[in-house]
Amino acid sequence: AASTDYESESAFISKGKVESNHAGYSGKGFVNLDNVVGSYLEYSVDAAQAGTHTLTFRYANGTTADRPLALTVGGGQATTLSFPATGSWTTWKTVTTTVKLAAGVNKVRTTSTTADGGPNADKLTD
Ligand code: GCU
Ligand code: CA
Repeated sequence: AASTDYESESAFISKGKVESNHAGYSGKGFVNLDNVVGSYLEYSVDAAQAGTHTLTFRYANGTTADRPLALTVGGGQATTLSFPATGSWTTWKTVTTTVKLAAGVNKVRTTSTTADGGPNADKLTD
């Protein structure tokens, strides 16, 4: 099926802000999650088909340490996704994972799991 982009700056943001000071993002900017445990983004992913979907997260991590995020769909069981260093805050890379989505809108949440917060988040593609 065709892919859909969900810009992070259009997602629900808890503890973070939309910024545009690091080039290379898509849309109007990216989200700089606060560097605390629990800061999160929640995307409303509208799936035409129920079943297994590949989600692609585009991000930058200009530090030297992983910035893992906990991923949940519809408030379900969390899995941890690794967001390794990308080399600079203007170097954007992707991480992919597969999830089960219901038909219709699914709340896909990515939550910082360490006091370093998450990576800078550009977009999610389903
Ligand atoms: C820098 C960078 C931010 C980033 C932050 C961080 O301040 O400019 O975009 O979010 O580091 O470490 O999380
Ligand atoms: Ca940050």
